[in-house]
Amino acid sequence: MPAIVLVGTQWGDEGKGKATDLLGSQVDYVVKFNGGNNAGHTVVIGDEKYALHLLPSGILSPNVVPVIGNGVVIDLNVLFEELDLLESRGIDTSRLLISSQAHVITKYHRQLDQTQERFLGARKIGTTGRGIGPAYADKINRLGIRVADLFDEKILRAKVIGALDQKNQLFTKMYNKAAIDPENVVAELLTYGERLRPMVANTPLILNQALDAGKIVLCEGGQATMLDVDHGTYPFVTSSNPTAGGACTGAGIGPTRIDSVIGVIKAYTTRVGEGPFPTELNENSDMGKYLRETGGEFGVTTGRPRRCGWYDAVIARYSARVNGLTDLLVTKLDVLSGIAQIPVCVAYDVDGVRFDEMPDSQSDFHHAVPIYEYLPGWTEDISQARTFEELPQQAQDYLRFIEKQSGCRISAIGVGADRDAIIEVHSLIP
Ligand code: GDP
Ligand code: IMO
Ligand code: MG
Repeated sequence: MPAIVLVGTQWGDEGKGKATDLLGSQVDYVVKFNGGNNAGHTVVIGDEKYALHLLPSGILSPNVVPVIGNGVVIDLNVLFEELDLLESRGIDTSRLLISSQAHVITKYHRQLDQTQERFLGARKIGTTGRGIGPAYADKINRLGIRVADLFDEKILRAKVIGALDQKNQLFTKMYNKAAIDPENVVAELLTYGERLRPMVANTPLILNQALDAGKIVLCEGGQATMLDVDHGTYPFVTSSNPTAGGACTGAGIGPTRIDSVIGVIKAYTTRVGEGPFPTELNENSDMGKYLRETGGEFGVTTGRPRRCGWYDAVIARYSARVNGLTDLLVTKLDVLSGIAQIPVCVAYDVDGVRFDEMPDSQSDFHHAVPIYEYLPGWTEDISQARTFEELPQQAQDYLRFIEKQSGCRISAIGVGADRDAIIEVHSLIP
């Protein structure tokens, strides 16, 4: 049976949490394969609103086994806080599995993230400050602490001492901070061990056996394509691979097992943090304010207002390509109701040259000026529409236009934040 990958196609916050929740009743496993608590997913179920950061959105579906894959970096304090909060609201979290190979975010990762951002000054990335980059840096540098290390105190101590060796030099000599005592870090990590142990498993083995047994596995990406460390707007990216390939490494599933790749895409575009964004509207312009306020575009993790702009079909085409998308799930179409003319970016003008595809050079991307086509808008409230035909003609035309421009079929359309506010055009489960 198939593994399905679900990814963000823009700069995050496309509505991946809601999309995963939508599929929750039809899949057996949901595995988060990258990132950590830099993610923020809002899922609305009836009158209840859940904000998830580290846990896979599948945790809200009673029949799903939620899995934190080996590709994730885990802040254990956040993990338990999130679990406690869900339990206090009556959600059963006992099925959660955590890869023994996932890396752990510690105090020194958070401190490094925040201090480095301050030192970068005007060149800062605008990270979430959660220690994500330094934890992945340690992983690549072979200085990371993995979940399995928490169950062997001797090894844990040796690894923490090794990881802090150079960092304490940095903290004291460069950043004018106090050194971090490895014993404090070890003691804190050991306190998590007992509660963690029953959740820890060989998740790549379990997921592959589940696929062999005919179960459906949904791999849920955090962040998004344009924040991918390889394919995004480097250096203004996160430190993992949120693109579809990252699902293979981050969950331990081979590419031949993946049958479909769903790209979640907003009917317009948003971005949090620094970096280029060609279709961005001035935050104080009428339209910039309209999208931010009507779309509720404020970060779930940091509360920062999101930068807002028009749909960028060049980015959609790029995303369709690097992820091998089979389906697009367009969200927040309802937010565009009431706009007389809706611009869609179809290409860029870079210093007088037309680019139909994403420029290879980052400098060209920084200079990209959108070439827009303008589509007539609609005024109707579309939040009750449940079939494509129930949408106003202009909304149908808008969707047809972005579908043609993006090079991937639209299989579902979000028309509101509620769980059922969705139009399914094609089945998302192969
Ligand atoms: P994620 O990080 O990709 O999971 O997205 P976020 O949860 O950070 O941001 C998406 C926001 O849009 C959330 O507040 C969702 O509840 C909301 N949302 C998702 N789909 C729709 C939709 O179709 N219409 C509207 N109005 N809101 C939506
Ligand atoms: P979800 O899963 C939007 C951005 C940060 C910053 C950059 C690097 O909710 O879509 P990091 O803390 O990861 O080192 O920050 O990436 N960023 C996100 N932006 N949605 C997210 O997650 C993000 N996760 C990280 O704002 O620009
Ligand atoms: Mg988000």
